[in-house]
Amino acid sequence: MKKTVYEIKSNKFQRQLCMAVVSDLHGGDPTAVLKMLEAERPDYILCPGDIFERLDGSDSDIYRNGLCLLSEASRIAPVFYSTGNHEDGGVRSWSRSWESRVKKREYHERCRNDIEKSGAVLLEDSFVLKHGIAFGGLLSGIINEGGAPELSWLDEFCAVDAPKILLCHHPEYYEKYLKDKNIDLIVSGHAHGGQWRFFGRGVFAPGQGIFPKYTYGVHDGRLVISTGLKVSAIPRFFNPTEVVFVKLV
Ligand SMILES: [Fe+2]
Repeated sequence: MKKTVYEIKSNKFQRQLCMAVVSDLHGGDPTAVLKMLEAERPDYILCPGDIFERLDGSDSDIYRNGLCLLSEASRIAPVFYSTGNHEDGGVRSWSRSWESRVKKREYHERCRNDIEKSGAVLLEDSFVLKHGIAFGGLLSGIINEGGAPELSWLDEFCAVDAPKILLCHHPEYYEKYLKDKNIDLIVSGHAHGGQWRFFGRGVFAPGQGIFPKYTYGVHDGRLVISTGLKVSAIPRFFNPTEVVFVKLV
């Protein structure tokens, strides 16, 4: 796991800030991540989804790892968390019926109390103001009819007279839905860096296909994509897991 630091120039924030981006843990062991957060002491910790492998109501080490990350990270700095396609049960939407995916969202509701008790602020197509910054979270649209995210709340978010940070699990939403929005920083994950990286390019990402555009790094000076933390049976080539630290200067 590597530490990736990006510096983004912005005159919107009243002071220099460090935002940690912790994405796509998928219920893995959070120990190393927490150690890094403890050492770096960011001002805020942003978790844009797939922290859990699933939120189906079952108790398991994987589930407890996700909760451990949220609760222990909350002792270090304020944590904002918006779920991804995995938490919503939309893992392989092409193989599930609409009805079965709706059932998964009901299970998600049963996990809400645990997440809220962790101390993390859960953002579900909603935003909060904290220390003069608006933090919003755009949910995955994967279980929605048609597969599109719910955008109706974004106009109110964009109109807030404060710097705006959006957690958006799917980086591919940027071009389609967010590029023209008045948002100062957008943080994403989901693409896992394209799983295999050759010559600085990812090979595949869900929702984007082969040689995807949005897998890593900073785009347009405001979209930050983490390659995430997932270690699975599918090897990652030239694509280490990472915790990103965005320094707003
Ligand atoms: Fe994802």
